[in-house]
Amino acid sequence: MGFEIVKMGTTYFKHHIILILVFLTFINCSKEDSSDSNSSTEQNENQKESGLKDKAENFYIGVATNANRLNSEADYDPLIRREFSSITAEYEMKMQPILRQRGNYNWTKADQIVDYATEHGINVHGHALVWHNATPEWLENFSGTDTEFEEEVKNYIKTVVGRYKGKVSSWDVVNEGVSDQGGSLRNTVFLRRMGEDYMAKCFQYAREADPNALLFYNDYNMTSNSSKQDKVFELINDWKQRQIPIDGVGYQMHISYLHPSKAQIQLATNRAVDNNLLLHFSEIDVRSNPNKDITELTDIRAEQQKTKYKEVVKIFNTIPDKNKYALTLWGIKDDDSWLLSHHNNDNEWPLLFDKNFMAKKAYQGFSEGLE
Ligand code: XIL
Repeated sequence: MGFEIVKMGTTYFKHHIILILVFLTFINCSKEDSSDSNSSTEQNENQKESGLKDKAENFYIGVATNANRLNSEADYDPLIRREFSSITAEYEMKMQPILRQRGNYNWTKADQIVDYATEHGINVHGHALVWHNATPEWLENFSGTDTEFEEEVKNYIKTVVGRYKGKVSSWDVVNEGVSDQGGSLRNTVFLRRMGEDYMAKCFQYAREADPNALLFYNDYNMTSNSSKQDKVFELINDWKQRQIPIDGVGYQMHISYLHPSKAQIQLATNRAVDNNLLLHFSEIDVRSNPNKDITELTDIRAEQQKTKYKEVVKIFNTIPDKNKYALTLWGIKDDDSWLLSHHNNDNEWPLLFDKNFMAKKAYQGFSEGLE
């Protein structure tokens, strides 16, 4: 009986031990589970916290926007802060909106953009001081003398660059100053009134107003139009020889999934590097429907667009750091793109985010290009 009791006691004891062990193992497992789920929450949080800008070493990832999106359309704000380290005004820092009436500067929208960026530690790239497509009417049809015209332009550049000194770190001083045919200068009111050397003068005014701002010449079709490319580099080299201040060149990069070729983009990129310039792919969008052959963004086309985005970003990402300025997207989501209104095609999806702010395959391509 005693034995029985001892035996029963041992069994009882054994059971207890087993139960305790099972219990401890359970606690341990559930601890591991919960620490697993903690780390995956952390990872998700991190994913939400970081964006394209965090993958770009030593250069900016920029985006064009208008002031309203920063203030009232709330969904843009967290996305911009997560993904981008630089902002360009898509329209509101051009001469037409700032100086629509002679002598009457309107800073409201421009200030909102610059203040937003300053508040959030985001870079501002200024766009654009002189552009034939954003000249106010009073200046386009200026009735004074050529000397007075030049004085107006000089005052404008000095006033704008001076106002944002230390806040806008770079400027497109002249935008699209070279013609598409034959590589001559574009026939603009600035050329007609100020003469062949007007661009050099504008660069000098900008440098005088803010010696620390980086100054760019910006143009489109820089990778595909070789006579334009030749002319731009001829001008830039001439300016450099004459100590005219210029720091970099902007290739707009309004391209399509089909064109220009990788080789063309690579060659144009090399040329900026060989000429010791900062390079800015300044207005990137990749048309997915250049031939208007689709009525919705198909998976195949989205893949093709992704491939082009990756190619462009990779080419940029492999140049020396000292030549990298920024990659700037010309808009956030597809339905905001200027291409819809300006190129008269509703069936176009050229950007990284769809109309619901969801990242597209194009985003993935861009991101992979940064790896
Ligand atoms: C476009 C903007 O996207 C539009 O919103 C605006 O109305 C007109 O200008 N090249 C440039 C940009 O340098 O300034 C242009 O932006 C697009 C072509």
